[in-house]
Amino acid sequence: MTSFQWTQRYGSIALVTGASSGIGEQFAYQLAEKGFDLLLTARREVLLQPLKDKLERTYGVSVTCIVCDLSDPAKVDSLIEQLLPMDIGLVISNAGYGVLKGAYLSTELAALEAMYRVNSLAPARIAHALLPAMVVKGRGGFIFTGSIEGDAVFPWSAGYAASKAFLHSLVQALWYEVKGSGVDILLLAPGATDTEAPLKQGISRDKLVGLMSPATVAQQALAQLGARPHFTPALRNRLLVGLLRWLPRKLAISMAGYGMQQTMDKSS
Ligand SMILES: NC(=O)c1ccc[n+]([C@@H]2O[C@H](COP(=O)([O-])OP(=O)(O)OC[C@H]3O[C@@H](n4cnc5c(N)ncnc54)[C@H](OP(=O)(O)O)[C@@H]3O)[C@@H](O)[C@H]2O)c1
Repeated sequence: MTSFQWTQRYGSIALVTGASSGIGEQFAYQLAEKGFDLLLTARREVLLQPLKDKLERTYGVSVTCIVCDLSDPAKVDSLIEQLLPMDIGLVISNAGYGVLKGAYLSTELAALEAMYRVNSLAPARIAHALLPAMVVKGRGGFIFTGSIEGDAVFPWSAGYAASKAFLHSLVQALWYEVKGSGVDILLLAPGATDTEAPLKQGISRDKLVGLMSPATVAQQALAQLGARPHFTPALRNRLLVGLLRWLPRKLAISMAGYGMQQTMDKSS
């Protein structure tokens, strides 16, 4: 699609959550290049403001920053209130993170629950609020960033993987429910991507194999919107998940747990 066709297809305003860094920031660049006016949200205003300035200067689009902590349901409510009157055509629900890799039982419950609210509940609420208007208009698109961890079982990352599994199940069911309405839905399930995320989970970037650039992940996801319900960038990642889903459950869980333990040990 040309830039003009993108805004014709989805409308002229796009929302990106988790736009302050990594994959979300790259979505923001690529959507601005396609001519979308942008609503960017995250907590770090110090990163959003310079990004807004750069996008407006470079692409001549209009960018609005909304600072919001998605782990706070009241703030999600007020974000949704702000968004509802706007004619948003494309949503990139990308904000998310993982707590430090390690034993579920050693991870503070409050930290796990905050992560569930950001990774699972906030996207579910945003979808529930914004999708109906798109369906009525017969036009719109939603990309949700999950993870390959949401497609299999990953010991030592149990809470994060479970939070993404919730999202994967919900989004793919939604894809079916709105199919034919003119609204495209895509679950993006990236593998290791070169952003701040791995380090925040205690994993060194040089210990990760097949690290992808966030720009490539965003670009490939946009190319798949409307073509399928689920997309994992990189053949290597697709083969890994395919294997973990195909093997007998006990063996698959043991393999994933062993692999995660190795990566954690090498990073420490
Ligand atoms: N990098 C990987 O290897 C990888 C692999 C699979 C899936 N993913 C997924 O890809 C998505 C983007 O992550 P990334 O790799 O680009 O890492 P990142 O650079 O750390 O980006 C995470 C984004 O989420 C936002 N965010 C985190 N907590 C938030 C909160 N409480 N409220 C609002 N926004 C919040 C961050 O903004 P603020 O900190 O400014 O709030 C940031 O913009 C996430 O959903 C992640 O789970 C990443």
